[in-house]
Amino acid sequence: MLYPRHIAIIMDGNGRWARARGLPRIAGHKIGMEALHRIVHHASQMGLEWLTVFAFSSENWSRPESEVNHLMGLLKLFIKRDLLDLRDNNVRVRVIGNREEVPADIQSLLDEAETITQKNDGLNLVVAFNYGGRAEIVRSVKKIAKSLANGTINIDEIDEAVFSKYLDTAEMPDPDLIIRTSGEQRLSNFLLWQSAYSEFYFAPCYWPDFDERQLDIAVEDYWLRERRFGRIPDYKKEKLL
Ligand code: FPP
Repeated sequence: MLYPRHIAIIMDGNGRWARARGLPRIAGHKIGMEALHRIVHHASQMGLEWLTVFAFSSENWSRPESEVNHLMGLLKLFIKRDLLDLRDNNVRVRVIGNREEVPADIQSLLDEAETITQKNDGLNLVVAFNYGGRAEIVRSVKKIAKSLANGTINIDEIDEAVFSKYLDTAEMPDPDLIIRTSGEQRLSNFLLWQSAYSEFYFAPCYWPDFDERQLDIAVEDYWLRERRFGRIPDYKKEKLL
């Protein structure tokens, strides 16, 4: 059976969950934060190595200012409230995305979350914050250009493995399974390079309703997949023409 090492989640549908109940969108984000709390615990208990969650995209800044402020506030609340619990449950927090553009108080909280949990060797919880796949690739290209200019690497050394080391995800395995809630079936600029061979699972429910059982169902669905990475399995036994 195929166990995923790395699951990445696009937590979509908070706004629609709230609207369907006649509530303001921010109520959906708040309940979404509780869903995140439960899923992190469950992932940790199931022995998953890597869980990446798309918490705030580089495109999310274009939402109304009040909603952006609320999402920032929820991230602060999540870190302040859950950090010691994560540390004590052997979860290591890592953050990907462009941290330089993030407000200073959030930057220091993200730094603190990484520092306090850095000795943990259980679940790696990767928070994609102010993250966009294209922007990440452009940042990597700039870093490579600098390395070329200062002679740290030479052009013939650059291959896919070397390129991967310049991404925010340098130390991480690629996601085996990408889950998106809310029924939408697109990647929305999430882990563009890293998802080359990922399996996808689209859950019909909105993120606030995604619970432990839903995660189990997604993993069970993944068990049935046959991953070929572009190859033909057992091709020597098969008649090719
Ligand atoms: C998508 O719902 C979700 C987000 C933009 C952010 C995810 C945020 C959380 C799960 C809660 C907060 C947690 C942290 C740690 C920041 P949407 O607003 O796009 O929903 P819609 O598509 O129905 O409008």
